[in-house]
Amino acid sequence: MRDLIEVCAPLIYESVSEFPVSEEHISSLIGPATDGRMADVAIPCHSLSGVFKKSPIEVAEEICRVISPSLEGVAITSTINGFVNLKADPRWLSSKTMSLLPDERLGVKKEISRKIVVDYSAPNVAKEMHVGHLRSTVIGDAIVRMLQFKGHQVIRENHIGDWGTPFGMLIEHLIDEGEEKFALEKGISDFDNFYKEARSKFSDDSEFANRARARVVLLQGEDEDTLRLWKVLVDVSTSYFNEVYGMLGVLLDNDDLMGESAYKHLLPQVVERLDESGLLVESNGASVVFLGGKWVNREGQPFPVMIRKADGGYNYSTSDLACIIDRVERLSCDELLYVVGTPQKQHFEMVFEVAKKAGFMNDTHSAIHVNFGSVLDSNGQMLKSRAGQSVKLVDLLRESISRAGQAIAERNSELSDEETVRISKIIGIGAVKYADLSTDRAKDYVFDWDRMLSFEGNTAPYLQYSYARISRIFSLSPISRDSLKETKIELLAEEEQNLARCIVNFSESLDQSASSFHPHKLCTHIHTTSSAFASFYEACPVIKADDEGVMASRLALCDLTARVISTGLGILGIQSPEMM
Ligand code: ARG
Repeated sequence: MRDLIEVCAPLIYESVSEFPVSEEHISSLIGPATDGRMADVAIPCHSLSGVFKKSPIEVAEEICRVISPSLEGVAITSTINGFVNLKADPRWLSSKTMSLLPDERLGVKKEISRKIVVDYSAPNVAKEMHVGHLRSTVIGDAIVRMLQFKGHQVIRENHIGDWGTPFGMLIEHLIDEGEEKFALEKGISDFDNFYKEARSKFSDDSEFANRARARVVLLQGEDEDTLRLWKVLVDVSTSYFNEVYGMLGVLLDNDDLMGESAYKHLLPQVVERLDESGLLVESNGASVVFLGGKWVNREGQPFPVMIRKADGGYNYSTSDLACIIDRVERLSCDELLYVVGTPQKQHFEMVFEVAKKAGFMNDTHSAIHVNFGSVLDSNGQMLKSRAGQSVKLVDLLRESISRAGQAIAERNSELSDEETVRISKIIGIGAVKYADLSTDRAKDYVFDWDRMLSFEGNTAPYLQYSYARISRIFSLSPISRDSLKETKIELLAEEEQNLARCIVNFSESLDQSASSFHPHKLCTHIHTTSSAFASFYEACPVIKADDEGVMASRLALCDLTARVISTGLGILGIQSPEMM
């Protein structure tokens, strides 16, 4: 109830001016109430006991007495255990809700635009995309959309793993297998085997290993034919990635590809600049940076950031340092977000620290590792397919769509076959994405088909169903949806007030979600709104309301609810079907 606090605070300061307490002190006390059912805003008075020379209970009562008259029509006051509680007055709530009717953005303000690079998805060439990449793709996409909605200039970068020593063996294996066969068979993706085959040949067959090593040298020397073969691997992989992105309906496309290979020309510069800044040291033939401080290994020895290996090869860290130089100096971005799993926490901490020490970033830049936990199966193990290999993402998505189709069929819906196909996709994909987005990203989450596809609870199908239900109300309504922009909203029933509260709080929850890069906060809000709608719809007849004014007012609430759901889900990258 940020808006309520904004209106109440100055009225409260004015009323308490006769008391020996500063505006700052009072303002530091006013905050959202912990129990939303009791109040929207609370002022804990315990710390004022000393200045007032009274018990907190008495202080609360005294403050409540003086502020109540000025809050008339805005908030209803009460006290309990040394707290002053404020609950939004239905009159204030209704005028606030009405102001959102013509507002396309539902009260969400744009911020001063920052230039933000979001690094996400980032699968590896010639390897299967795993569920970790699915999480990165889905969470990254939601964050991109939230930040864009808030008015920021967002640059999407898909930092695919498309460079480095493994490409020597991968290219040689490609030659052995035959390019055409590869493009044909692997085009539908069986990358895990391809990678494993290459690796086992590399360790068992010394002739192959020698060829692979020689191939790395050719690749680094940008030998034409080698680059062409490398490109075959990259193209086949990226077309597979694009298939997954297309199914998921995320914003990523080929223009966003900015893989490790894009930074290869900057790698020598990283070494040079680290050397100039005095950070680089030689250690057993390799060039490394010692950050000191907490970076020690188990034996207490300083633990280095590897920049260039003894054989001259560069490291993952080197490539990320080059990437920072590029994002700061070429793109002049203010913020660098990395949507990558928690296991890479140390990598990013160290890389950011080196980049700051070396002056690749300064205090005006913020680099944030937007980390996330693992996907587990119902036994608490890392999610794997039955054969024990990593789950193939397209298969997983296809399964979700087919399960959604079954769920729709079981509900005896009146959809035509064609509509069932279209809507199964929306529900199946929405369910997978939402299951991922609705849990705190820092935690592991359990992949559970039944739960994610359930039409009850904090799930996409439940929210989509609420939206479809409202669309149905409008299809039966004698009042058209477009004519509701200036409707007088009256909040008589408690359920109407609760629903209005959710609508008003949408902008605040979106802001909290966007500023913390935590999509689950927005999910929770959309779910709370849908539940409030269910209670409202049960208690308050809409089309069958007694008079036309009440009907219009309730239809206006329905309209706003539907917009909270579809705007909210849209920002999470999830569609809302009109029927299901
Ligand atoms: N390709 C990496 C992986 O699969 C993720 C890259 C993340 N982005 C980055 N700038 N390091 O683990």
